[in-house]
Amino acid sequence: MISNIKFRKLLNDLKRRPEDAAKDLNITKKEILKFLNNKKEISHKILNQATKVWPVNHGDFFSFSDDTQNGFKIMRSDKSNKSKRIMIRGKKPYYLYKDTVMSKVSPFKPELITELVVVENDNPNNPKVKFNNGHFLHQFTYFIGPVNFYYLKNNKKKIARMNTGDSMYISPYVPHSFTTRKNKKNELGKILALTYSDQIDNETLNELNVLGFDIANKYRIDLTNENRAFWGNLDIFFNNSSISLDEFKKKTNIDLNKLRKKKNVPNLNTLKKISNFLNIGLRDLLPPKEKIEVKIQKYSQNRNWYFPSNKKKDYLFVELTNIPQLPYSRGYEFHILSNHKINRTLEVPSHQYIYNIGHTNVQAIINKKKIKIYPGDSLYIKPNLKHYFNQKGKLLILRLGGRISGDRLYQLSMLSKQNLFKTIDDIKPWFNK
Ligand SMILES: [Fe+2]
Repeated sequence: MISNIKFRKLLNDLKRRPEDAAKDLNITKKEILKFLNNKKEISHKILNQATKVWPVNHGDFFSFSDDTQNGFKIMRSDKSNKSKRIMIRGKKPYYLYKDTVMSKVSPFKPELITELVVVENDNPNNPKVKFNNGHFLHQFTYFIGPVNFYYLKNNKKKIARMNTGDSMYISPYVPHSFTTRKNKKNELGKILALTYSDQIDNETLNELNVLGFDIANKYRIDLTNENRAFWGNLDIFFNNSSISLDEFKKKTNIDLNKLRKKKNVPNLNTLKKISNFLNIGLRDLLPPKEKIEVKIQKYSQNRNWYFPSNKKKDYLFVELTNIPQLPYSRGYEFHILSNHKINRTLEVPSHQYIYNIGHTNVQAIINKKKIKIYPGDSLYIKPNLKHYFNQKGKLLILRLGGRISGDRLYQLSMLSKQNLFKTIDDIKPWFNK
């Protein structure tokens, strides 16, 4: 939707008064004022003119819409069932896909997938197994039943035998596939394939797109081990300041070239001196120590704990697979242990995706609104909302940081309360109710 408030923000950013904008867009000041006061809708013709004369993109004029109510959105299992579609691979039915809850507000694209191909062995080269080409989104997977998970590692096909409660993470573009193992009950395996974007989201893709591959590729730091990652990351900051390591040595008496040749990562004391010298944060000098393409976690490896405490066992958290490179992405099997009216409130700084994987109905209270979550229902909850759960049951929870995490979270925190209010008010969509 073209937003008059976004239009106002653009004029502010471009330092254009209404009369200046009128001149640039070949319209009257009166018309500009009508747009700004939401008395008239901005036409696509004017929008096109604006993108011609100003360094702005079409997307800069549009605002997000919110498809949640009271801070959450639920998808009932019957609606999920209606979305079913069968994916054919090698001319045979391969997967049965069902949507689960998705919101315009959150980075999740989660599916419930039934594996329709039954295999008799665990051979990763089984001709029945059809690999995909991998995909752009990160994938966290929760397994239900006897599922074989296949993936490509160093160009070799691998397999992992998965069962209920096991989980895995795969990074973008790792080719993979799933089948059901033959079993006495003739049960078909299922997965909750929760795909999502993280820091490389659509906005970032837009920037990468216009920079092009050759320029984008030069950014890449070699993350194959801690030593390469450290020095590759440090080069970015020294290059950005156009300071050589020799100059650094002259000014600090620290010989980083020597350390680099020895393939050492400097100790904390030296790291502090480097960060002081460059005037950057210490954390900026600590990139990820490795790349993770596939992580598999069996149920027995999962850590677990009671919440809020061992004495008050209202909930049991079973921690599913996660990786340090995605510090806000956390998956849990979440058990509600009490049928009593508990009031153990949760408030988490992340977008939450919830699926009732149990056999009992659960009650959620979000923002004081009660909602029943039946088996097979899925729920999205906005960050930082008070909520709690009643009635014994078992849920799958995936938490994601979304855009307001990491450096963006720190920059948001540097705004005063008033300025945060102003920031949001400046871009708020006119149709906000
Ligand atoms: Fe996938």
